[in-house]
Amino acid sequence: MNILILGSGGREHALAWKLSQSEKTDDLFIAPGNAGTRELGTNIPIDINDFNELKKVVVEKDIDMMVVGPEVPLVNGISDYFKNEPALQNIAIIGPVKQGAMLEGSKEFAKKFMKRHNIPTAAYKSFNTSNLEEGYKFLETLEAPYVLKADGLAAGKGVLILYDLELAKSELAKMIEEAKFGEASAKVVIEEFLDGIELSVFVLTDGKSYVILPEAKDYKRIGEGDSGLNTGGMGSVSPVSFATSEFMDKIENQIIKPTIDGLIEENIDYRGFIFFGLIKVGDEPYVIEYNCRMGDPEAESVIPRIKSDLVDAFEAVANKSLDTFKIEFDERHAAAIMLVSGGYPESYEKSKHISGIENLKDCILFHAGTSNDINTGEVKTSGGRVIAICSYGNSMQESLDMAYEKANLIEYEGRYFRTDIGFDLK
Ligand code: AMP
Ligand code: GLY
Repeated sequence: MNILILGSGGREHALAWKLSQSEKTDDLFIAPGNAGTRELGTNIPIDINDFNELKKVVVEKDIDMMVVGPEVPLVNGISDYFKNEPALQNIAIIGPVKQGAMLEGSKEFAKKFMKRHNIPTAAYKSFNTSNLEEGYKFLETLEAPYVLKADGLAAGKGVLILYDLELAKSELAKMIEEAKFGEASAKVVIEEFLDGIELSVFVLTDGKSYVILPEAKDYKRIGEGDSGLNTGGMGSVSPVSFATSEFMDKIENQIIKPTIDGLIEENIDYRGFIFFGLIKVGDEPYVIEYNCRMGDPEAESVIPRIKSDLVDAFEAVANKSLDTFKIEFDERHAAAIMLVSGGYPESYEKSKHISGIENLKDCILFHAGTSNDINTGEVKTSGGRVIAICSYGNSMQESLDMAYEKANLIEYEGRYFRTDIGFDLK
């Protein structure tokens, strides 16, 4: 089987790493990929949001399965496009149709969906230019902190948590009237602040049944102790100590099942990953957000814990036979530490030579922002998040200790990583 993975981050390298281990995989392509995926398959430098271009590649390379890593092509309707093109209809696509991807593509859509299906989430109201004044009044009825969310996709930056009422009002105006997050903030969801600890839960679904993947915890802030600016994610661990079987049962019964049933009821043909961004308030789980894809850097600790053949699992997703698929997991802990560029998530320099990545043992390197120098082929930094180092262990601490030992062996100018991943877990 020829497989094409769309995307270029650590998540896509983790997918490529796993899919390349399957006996069913013949040729593996990654578009556009990075210096790490190039070791496992063929990188194709195209714009993955140009569907006509993608169609050419898929036909030319005789692709049988396409795995969509990031959300943007899904929200743009890539699955629908493939379904409607006669030449592409038989290709197995891992990633939902646009209507399903709207669970991530519109916060208001997701909120309404949760309301219809009684899925626990923060109380909310949404506002745009037509009712901005009501937005100010609504904020006055709430207590700080105020949570303002751009309705549309904003590359993980569209959520503001503000502690001052006047600031919340002025930011609301900036989002709606001055397009602070572009089109994405023409509509803003204001919601109740939930105080608790976050957890990322993933399922693979064929639109009828589902399998729950290992859970993970992501560390989004740049600084130690969860301080400073938000990033794309600085590391992850899996499993998560407070995700006991009792708590996971609650999540399955109150959140996962109603979500899948809701998709069935609303005739949404969802075949792919659902990422439940959850928060535990007291002993209860609430949904903070849905994503229509795997998390990054969660994928870098979750995918290494899947023992089963992922091509088999994806085939079951595409054929709608997931109900008979038995998925197996590695019981060990996994930790992923993200090495980033100095200055990230603000401005940073690129093209720094990376040394120490050859012959590293007892860890898996998942490249994120790397590329090969066009003249020398050497591996260089090309993004904010550079490389994730994943290690296994018999405890969370053991997996972290090993990952940190290896992280220290990789060098480039400006290298930074958090040294306290997992600090809030036992
Ligand atoms: P999102 O982009 O929806 O994941 O939001 C980004 C981050 O904002 C989340 O990971 C949470 O840390 C925080 N957040 C979002 N919504 C809420 C909420 N209702 N209460 C508390 N924190 C929130
Ligand atoms: N780690 C959070 C995300 O992938 O959105």
